Amino acid sequence: MKRIVEAVMAGSPRSAQRRAEFAALPVPESYRGVVVRRDEVGMFEGRVSRDKDPRESLHVDEVATPELGPGEALVAVMASSVNYNTVWTSIFEPLSTFGFLERYGRTSPLAARHDLPYHVVGSDLAGVVLRTGPGVHAWFPGDEVVAHCLSVELERPEGHNDTMLDPEQRIWGFETNFGGLAELALVKANQLMPKPDHLSWEEAAAPGLVNSTAYRQLVSRNGAGMKQGDVVLVWGASGGLGSYATQMALRGGALPVCVVSSPAKAEICRSLGAELVIDRAAEGYRFWSDERTQDPREWKRFGARIRELTGGEDPDIVFEHPGRETFGASVFVARRGGTVVTCASTSGFLHEYDNRYLWMNLKRIIGTHFANYREAWEANRLVARGLIHPTLSRVYPLEQTGQAAFDVHRNAHQGKVGVLCLAPEEGLGVRDEQMRARHLTAINRFRGV
Ligand SMILES: NC(=O)c1ccc[n+]([C@@H]2O[C@H](COP(=O)([O-])OP(=O)(O)OC[C@H]3O[C@@H](n4cnc5c(N)ncnc54)[C@H](OP(=O)(O)O)[C@@H]3O)[C@@H](O)[C@H]2O)c1
Repeated sequence: MKRIVEAVMAGSPRSAQRRAEFAALPVPESYRGVVVRRDEVGMFEGRVSRDKDPRESLHVDEVATPELGPGEALVAVMASSVNYNTVWTSIFEPLSTFGFLERYGRTSPLAARHDLPYHVVGSDLAGVVLRTGPGVHAWFPGDEVVAHCLSVELERPEGHNDTMLDPEQRIWGFETNFGGLAELALVKANQLMPKPDHLSWEEAAAPGLVNSTAYRQLVSRNGAGMKQGDVVLVWGASGGLGSYATQMALRGGALPVCVVSSPAKAEICRSLGAELVIDRAAEGYRFWSDERTQDPREWKRFGARIRELTGGEDPDIVFEHPGRETFGASVFVARRGGTVVTCASTSGFLHEYDNRYLWMNLKRIIGTHFANYREAWEANRLVARGLIHPTLSRVYPLEQTGQAAFDVHRNAHQGKVGVLCLAPEEGLGVRDEQMRARHLTAINRFRGV
């Protein structure tokens, strides 16, 4: 690994000499990766979700380097980030991810490599291509890259208009093995995208999954298709998804109404440029009066607060992901003809809402999930051009990934939490200092908060 790190630090990217140097580097037989272990799947039985602790289930183990197949790339990972899917994997909820690996493993001899007694997790990376497999012509050893997390087979017709509709579509590092929270990662070459030159490794690794998801969910025609002037209600507006949705709304000329749960988070939203912010904790909304009963008066109180902020307007788009706890309110507050667009159910999958408000007011609910390569590329392009900025708040060494995931599980983080993999320290990998200087305040906005 030492030779790889030295090679990354030396030499300029994109030169023919660098390609040759990287192609000549030996591939290590094993590497350190953050794993859950199959024989520990039952370790949290009897505990409630909140008490299931990622620090107990996530380990840094030495694992064998997988064989490189056609259309794939082996990447030396400089930095990665924690997504909520790593929290789900680490608490074995709602299912153990070993089931995904088993099912994938049955689909082909190449996929069988993924079905192992350990699962290397992580769905983001910034790093350098070490090797490419047969049939890869667009990427070369030495290329500095980020990876989006859609692993798609695309052997059947259904996915050819939109790869998210492919029946063999999976989230890399969650539904596949060899993820990004590791020193090396195995990806399909069509996951690779250029690393933004003005960002350090850990900054570049932060937006990936959430930025692409927010792009499809909010901006893409496959999602809500946001347009200038739209009022967009953003739940968790300073969190992983929400911090990018808020930026996209602001950049796209929309009017975000940011919902958060503390004055510090409200301040972050304001510093991004959002003027309309609701502190749901301070205002004490209780959409459920008990576990089974919602309180429509609280939906109305919430809707009235939104109107107060917007000058009487209801949201054209509700950016949903908390799920059960908020969904009834989300359907209620969306404007007549408006859209609730959802990609998750953090607080529970079985949603309840009053359907009269949906059909009588011609509202739509759209389900959305990650992003296709084109959407991920567009989202990465926004970052590379300095239109959207990483929302990295804290960075941990690989050994402390459990703590990083614990913070996200406990909602004790802001924006995104980063992890250094092969990068020996923060701040490395910047190739365009001039552009960085222009955007430094925005890049650092979430740091240390
Ligand atoms: N389908 C996909 O492709 C996809 C992609 C990315 C993420 N996801 C899922 O989306 C969810 C959010 O991911 P994330 O990265 O944004 O997580 P995150 O960084 O934890 O942010 C989520 C935010 O939602 C808010 N929230 C949490 N529980 C809530 C509740 N009961 N009521 C209201 N607000 C609540 C919190 O903000 P406040 O406390 O400040 O309100 C929290 O910061 C996760 O379940 C994740 O698995 C799905």
